[in-house]
Amino acid sequence: MTHQTVYVVDFGGQYTQLIVRRVRELGLYSEMIPWTTAAEKIRADKPSAVILSGGPKSVLEPGAPTIDFDVLEGIPILGICYGQQLMAHRLGGQVEKVSHKEYGHRTLVPSSATPHSLVAGLASDQVWMSHGDQVLKAPDGFVVTASTDSCPVAAFENPKLVRYGVQFHPEVTHTPDGKTVLKRFLFDCAKLKADWSSESFIDEQVELIRAKVGDGKVLCAVSGGVDSSVMAALLIKAIGDRAVCVFVDHGLLRKGEAQQVKDMFLGHFKANLKVFDAQDQFFDALAGVTEPECKRKIIGENFVQVFEAHATELQECDFLAQGTLYPDVIESGSPTAAKIKTHHNVGGLPDWMTMKLIEPLRWLFKDEVRNVGRKLGLPEDMVDREPFPGPGLGVRILGEVTRDRVRMTQDSDWIFRSELKARGLNKGIWQSYAGLLDVKTVGVMGDERTYEQPIVLRAVESEDAMTARAVNLPFEVLETIASRIVNEVDGVNRVFYDLTSKPPATIELE
Ligand code: XMP
Repeated sequence: MTHQTVYVVDFGGQYTQLIVRRVRELGLYSEMIPWTTAAEKIRADKPSAVILSGGPKSVLEPGAPTIDFDVLEGIPILGICYGQQLMAHRLGGQVEKVSHKEYGHRTLVPSSATPHSLVAGLASDQVWMSHGDQVLKAPDGFVVTASTDSCPVAAFENPKLVRYGVQFHPEVTHTPDGKTVLKRFLFDCAKLKADWSSESFIDEQVELIRAKVGDGKVLCAVSGGVDSSVMAALLIKAIGDRAVCVFVDHGLLRKGEAQQVKDMFLGHFKANLKVFDAQDQFFDALAGVTEPECKRKIIGENFVQVFEAHATELQECDFLAQGTLYPDVIESGSPTAAKIKTHHNVGGLPDWMTMKLIEPLRWLFKDEVRNVGRKLGLPEDMVDREPFPGPGLGVRILGEVTRDRVRMTQDSDWIFRSELKARGLNKGIWQSYAGLLDVKTVGVMGDERTYEQPIVLRAVESEDAMTARAVNLPFEVLETIASRIVNEVDGVNRVFYDLTSKPPATIELE
């Protein structure tokens, strides 16, 4: 490793990922490792510091998750919640069950006897607690540095051994000055130096990609989304035209996006971009199909067919690039398990596409991918792009997908999103789009009766797409957008706004 690494040992805590993010925000590379494999990994990798996460179990239960403290000898440690209790339990202190779980804000009272401790003199004395057990007695050699009215050992430390423990959660925003605690541990106690940034990530990856790929070629499919674009830009920086970028234009992207992909890669990056214009093929295959899962399947299969049709020119590639991100790696449970994300969107990969995988973004969270994209020179509206489903407008057009219905959807979507953007209302929105319904309604325009199709607008707030809530957009803005759509988009005579949350609805219409 060319940079320092902070391992966060996961004991199943709900905030473990957040600890990793906070450490990275402070300019240090951090990875989460499961407690089951922590000891061997720590022995082999010798991280610069280790943070022990919270967790739902009790250290007092038989078989509770644990770690071998001998392998941590000489490595700075911060135990958080369960991590602190585990330190106490394993190092000779005492842990007790509390009569009822403590959950919420508490006032931290630092000990006056330790004015230079990890938790002394914080800007806010409010801390977030979420625990069932607590430390009753610190291990020998440790001093208690803070308490709360209900928790006698809210923090302890042994500065000589660089071992610290806190019962509260410094990683959550509910602990207003929690970042200071992490900062002090990493920089003042463990004496680390910030050496992780988008720039250093790019430099390091460029070297790694070059070393891995050698003289080979990498097949990199670009979809118009953030992840594949950033991945392609990184590969191009590393290996130039040996990054063989492929863009399948199925005609189901948002207005102007296909052109933007071509302009960006051909113009700005001078990339080796192969554009496969497959619009006719996709529209022919989708003609007359209305069943949602059938449409998805057809779109997936046609992707594969396009790749099959160009097999000869693509088979010269030695590697296949995948846009796997760090949350996918964590979710898959094992950092080494290769999860083929595109399987979600394409109907399986052709047999010959079993090249070696390369996943240059597998260490990054989404916001870090965006930062790397900015540093690589991707335009802001590409870097800030909202998530967009693999089957594209195919899942936003109910009923048959035709060129004319794609036009109506694209034009309405463009009006909706540009009006939101012009007012800065797009900030904080997870996804916003216009979809087309598969019914006709009566209207009147001029003096004429119309019998045309309605557009539905959807804008949701979400953390992770698992749950979502409709955005409370100002009525006047919705009214302006509706008026523009019915006036400017031929074939649309009515506009609805979708108020449903997820669950019970989903974010997409199909
Ligand atoms: P739903 O509609 O299930 O969507 O609430 C959750 C998130 O997943 C995206 N989505 C897809 N992404 N292929 C994708 O790559 C798909 O088939 C697909 N369907 C939904 C959706 O945009 C949202 O972000």
